[in-house]
Amino acid sequence: MTQPQPSHTTHTPGRVRVLTGAKPTSELHVGNYFGAIRPAIEASHDAGKEVILMCVDWHGLTDRSKILEPGKYTAGLLATYLTMGFSLEKNMIVLQSEIPEIPEIAWYLSCVSAVGLLERAHAYKDALNSGKEPTAGLFNYPILMAADIVTFDAQVVPVGKDQSQHLEYASDMVKLFNNAVGRPVLFEPKALIQETPLLIGIDGERKMSKSYGNHLPLFAPKKEIEKRIKEIKTDSKGLDDPKDPETCAVFQILKSFASKESIAYMEERLRTGTGYGYGHAKKDLIDEHERVFGCKRELYEHYINSPREMAQLLTPSHNSARQLAATVRQRVRDALSLGIL
Ligand code: ADP
Ligand code: TRP
Repeated sequence: MTQPQPSHTTHTPGRVRVLTGAKPTSELHVGNYFGAIRPAIEASHDAGKEVILMCVDWHGLTDRSKILEPGKYTAGLLATYLTMGFSLEKNMIVLQSEIPEIPEIAWYLSCVSAVGLLERAHAYKDALNSGKEPTAGLFNYPILMAADIVTFDAQVVPVGKDQSQHLEYASDMVKLFNNAVGRPVLFEPKALIQETPLLIGIDGERKMSKSYGNHLPLFAPKKEIEKRIKEIKTDSKGLDDPKDPETCAVFQILKSFASKESIAYMEERLRTGTGYGYGHAKKDLIDEHERVFGCKRELYEHYINSPREMAQLLTPSHNSARQLAATVRQRVRDALSLGIL
């Protein structure tokens, strides 16, 4: 059942506030670019949207054996979005661990959420079933995620299907909180479930993933990119045989990031076959990767090596985000009649 939304929010008239979360837990690859990075960058150029891209480093800490990863990968994640053209003009890039209002609001949400709700969370149940010993951080993960969303009055949250339970939980927590205080204080977000197909890896078998080791990096040295592309598995069709682009991993990977012209060119050459073998396709993929990512390698390295400059670039975002978060925090504290100063 839909409930009334708060009459005072921080929304910008004419723009829908879209909140996207990105976890800095590994080196980014072409699959991430296709499924997560490019959509967020495109949204940042849409005049009807106000995108808050949150690097959710706290969410990356929930496995104690990987607790050092967010600290290691955050700069790369931020540099990637900046290098590939995320527009900061009317949008924000926010580092979750710089926003103290989030854990405060997470605490309020935890005080209206039943333990049973968290016990039913897929990620927690999977960890238990696979014999792991989940940390309390993993158990509380859905609360922290709901707090990310409500702290910024997010209207729309685009996520993959695997995150739909987290969005349902966020809605549930908003309702529980609003009911407990007797008025609409938190804004209930809408989940936008993305149907983006999964990009295949260089093994030509499974989805591209860092954990399968079948990924194609974005800004690795050219030599490494060439080596990875040459390793892409193909079938045994000969130079002059017509080839099916749909089942060709080289084409599928190219299609996920290339220009329309390059996609049309390779598709046509593969279908016709004549004089165009997989070796040619791989060479074209190497060139296109160089054109889209390789030519930005220097800029990416520059950001990574100049953390100060990156911080400066993100300071206005950070300040706007803190202001938003402070407004929502105050609204919540007022509803709870907390504080005496
Ligand atoms: P990995 O599997 O390499 O660890 P993540 O699970 O951290 O990658 O991916 C973060 C986001 O990147 C996902 O939520 C999804 O949007 C996108 N993504 C990752 N791999 C792929 C893929 N193979 N195809 C499409 N999108 C992907
Ligand atoms: N749980 C999300 C994932 O694994 C990451 C995330 C954390 C997130 N906070 C968020 C996504 C807020 C959207 C909004 O992909």
